Amino acid sequence: MEVLLPALIILLISNICLGKDIDLISRTKFLKNGDTIISKGGTFVMGFFNPTNSLNHYIGIWYKQDPAKTVVWVANRDAPLANTTSAVLKITLGGQLSLVGDKGQPVWSANTSTSSVQNPVAELLDSGNLVVRDADDENPENFVWQSFDHPTDHLLPGMKFGWNLQTGHEVFLTAWKGENDPASGQYTQHLDVTGYPQLILKNGTTEIFSTGPWNGLRFSVSTVEQNINNIGPQVVVINKKEVYFWYNPSNDFGLFRFVVTSNGFIKAWVWEDEMNQWVSYRRQPADICATYGLCGGNCVCNIQQFHGCVCLDKFLPNNNATVTGTLSRGCRRRKPLNCHNNGSSSDGFLKYSNIKLPDTRHSWYNESMSLQECEQVCLRNCSCMAYSTLNISNGGRGCLIWYGDLVDMRPVQNGQDMFIRLAASEIPGLKAEPHHSTSFRRKIKILALCLSLLVVIVLAGVYLFLYFCKRKRKEQKLEQELELPIYDQSTISRATNNFSEINKLGQGGFGAVYKGALDGGEEIAVKRLSKNSKQGLEEFKNEVICIAKLQHRNLVKLLGCCISEEEKMLIYEYMPNKSLDFFIFDQTKKRLLDWPKRFNIINGVARGLLYLHQDSRLRIIHRDIKVSNVLLDIDLNPKISDFGLARSIVGNAVGDNTKRVAGTHGYMSPEYAGHGIFSVKSDVFSFGISVLEIVSGRRNNKFINEDQYMTLPEHAWRLYREGKPIALVDKDIAGPYDVVQVLRSIHIALLCVQQSPDDRPDMSSVVQMLVNDFALPQAKEPGFFFGKEYPPKRHAKSSLNEVTITTMSPR
Ligand SMILES: *[C@@H]1O[C@H](CO)[C@@H](O)[C@H](O)[C@H]1NC(C)=O
Ligand SMILES: *[C@@H]1O[C@H](CO)[C@@H](O)[C@H](O)[C@H]1NC(C)=O
Ligand SMILES: *[C@@H]1O[C@H](CO)[C@@H](O)[C@H](O)[C@H]1NC(C)=O
Repeated sequence: MEVLLPALIILLISNICLGKDIDLISRTKFLKNGDTIISKGGTFVMGFFNPTNSLNHYIGIWYKQDPAKTVVWVANRDAPLANTTSAVLKITLGGQLSLVGDKGQPVWSANTSTSSVQNPVAELLDSGNLVVRDADDENPENFVWQSFDHPTDHLLPGMKFGWNLQTGHEVFLTAWKGENDPASGQYTQHLDVTGYPQLILKNGTTEIFSTGPWNGLRFSVSTVEQNINNIGPQVVVINKKEVYFWYNPSNDFGLFRFVVTSNGFIKAWVWEDEMNQWVSYRRQPADICATYGLCGGNCVCNIQQFHGCVCLDKFLPNNNATVTGTLSRGCRRRKPLNCHNNGSSSDGFLKYSNIKLPDTRHSWYNESMSLQECEQVCLRNCSCMAYSTLNISNGGRGCLIWYGDLVDMRPVQNGQDMFIRLAASEIPGLKAEPHHSTSFRRKIKILALCLSLLVVIVLAGVYLFLYFCKRKRKEQKLEQELELPIYDQSTISRATNNFSEINKLGQGGFGAVYKGALDGGEEIAVKRLSKNSKQGLEEFKNEVICIAKLQHRNLVKLLGCCISEEEKMLIYEYMPNKSLDFFIFDQTKKRLLDWPKRFNIINGVARGLLYLHQDSRLRIIHRDIKVSNVLLDIDLNPKISDFGLARSIVGNAVGDNTKRVAGTHGYMSPEYAGHGIFSVKSDVFSFGISVLEIVSGRRNNKFINEDQYMTLPEHAWRLYREGKPIALVDKDIAGPYDVVQVLRSIHIALLCVQQSPDDRPDMSSVVQMLVNDFALPQAKEPGFFFGKEYPPKRHAKSSLNEVTITTMSPR
């Protein structure tokens, strides 16, 4: 008895606390806090919940098997309950499904149309759909209300996502406000039906991502591989009553859900039984190029090409604007169209393949037309700019045409073809002036070709003769001018085993670097400049003279050069310890760099850079400061390499606008990456990024924080603002460190990466700040090329990210 009584009490109490499972809600059955409704198949549970770290209570639906209780629907998201002791979800006397608060006040109501309902009940279906129906109705599918018509942030299988054209009701998703706050957030996802249906993600009223139009099998943005087709059927249904997207993964695929996250992503999740958790399958916007309309009209965003905007073939940038990053104002046809609204047009269409089809908000379609009919329709209307097949399933049918500029395109693998309107002269095979007969024109062409060939051959002969005469004399003169040994190509070839892969130390934007040993045994590093550099001999010579004069203990020493018509090489002292990135990003080697060594490196780089900027006779802007350009000597002292190179390869203007942008993503300052404007302050920016990497032991361009496009400076900035910058320090740093020195270094780095070049200190101030302990100014927010909302995804698999980029921005 003494044992039994407490047990009985516990049983009673737990019964009260645990609540009970009920099958449905009716006039006589309520749902109160602690109770649950479990769907018939056992997949979903409905009940009261309160999010982590929140005092608010809500009615929600979640997966039964998910220990994390991922909530897929919330009833009263914008009307939370503080107290639930006597709150209930019930069917009111008026027949409404209502959540009633502690004091009997109405909190939320499902707004059922009750007039014809005799015996209303609310039931949770196994699809996760909460439905209200008439229990006396013979048709159990006759819902008077269903939660699938009022989703929160989840698009579940079986949901009709889109528009009821008869009532004008739109089913769309609204993200949670925060991770633990179900209130309506700023991000929404819609099926846009202004033109042909496409999914659009919005931040408030601004489009931030579009999937491109539905093509019968998938949305245009997805490649075949990415498509959820392989998990089950999906359709876009268009009829007079409704337009909606619907998908239904097959049973053997298990649970699947789409969600709009509180930080603005559309994410697909798959339940993994073995891991007993959700695994993220895919997310959009996947990268910077997914940003809606980033490049303006008639321009393609190509993530492979330095994350940039590129005009469509046969198009030119508008207003001579730089077509890089967010700065693009789009592109225009290089030859104007010839179309008159009386119906006459001599334009034609050119096929463009494998691109994500443009935004369809200014489009028109017909589901039965052939592609030929489509072309005719487009040709007859001067505002029609492109057309394509509407539905690519079953061999393709239908017609989709676009009016106005083509916006939001990017390359996609196995993408669709589209046909873009161009002036007739741009289209091979379409003749603008059909005056001469073809055979006559061909003869003229052949004759012209022969004549020009002859001229080229004669000129080449003369040139070669002169060249060989001059060459010998030239080399001797060069050596005197340069005051630097000139090696001949055979020596260097021998020293580097004929530039073998084994000798290759690395690849930079200006060319590959090889290790070599001269006949005397002296070890050298040979920088073989890219052949495609357009730099002339004279220019290169000036360059070498200039570099040879730069002498500083924190700069790599130039030993000589090798110049021939076809090759230009620079011979440097060899640094056995390679570059800094081999140390700080390597799990074992990073331990060799304790804090005093790291601080010594930061100081050395700062001094080397100061010398380049101020103390050398020539003001040199490095333009590609990064940890892989910092070499370490035998004592782990830093030496900057690749200095001076950028100067003439890229152009001679200083503090000016340049046509070519050279640098490495993640290290380039916003004004340089975006506008091509460089100054000593862009080097300061890159220096700041490098310092953050040295302190944290993490790569800026590999840095990701789950779910967020957060760069290393952003992360550092956040920690700095939250007053815990010490959390940035590399966990694997060996030995104790001088906390004040570490914090000061982080602070200085943040000053260096500020958005405005004017706010950044110059290198002489940086050197002063590093060694003294006067008070530092507050750092302002760091700068980013792509704006802070969507900095580029830095962990792209492409190795391009790591390589210096030297590229001509089209003008
Ligand atoms: C129900 O209708 C009322 C009044 O029209 C409205 O304020 C409320 O937002 C509606 N509730 C839902 C869940 O649609
Ligand atoms: C679509 O095109 C077909 C064939 O040209 C035509 O018969 C039909 O009326 C068109 N439908 C619409 C809605 O324009
Ligand atoms: C061309 O299409 C536009 C957009 O639908 C329409 O407003 C215009 O009337 C059409 N012009 C002709 C000549 O059909």
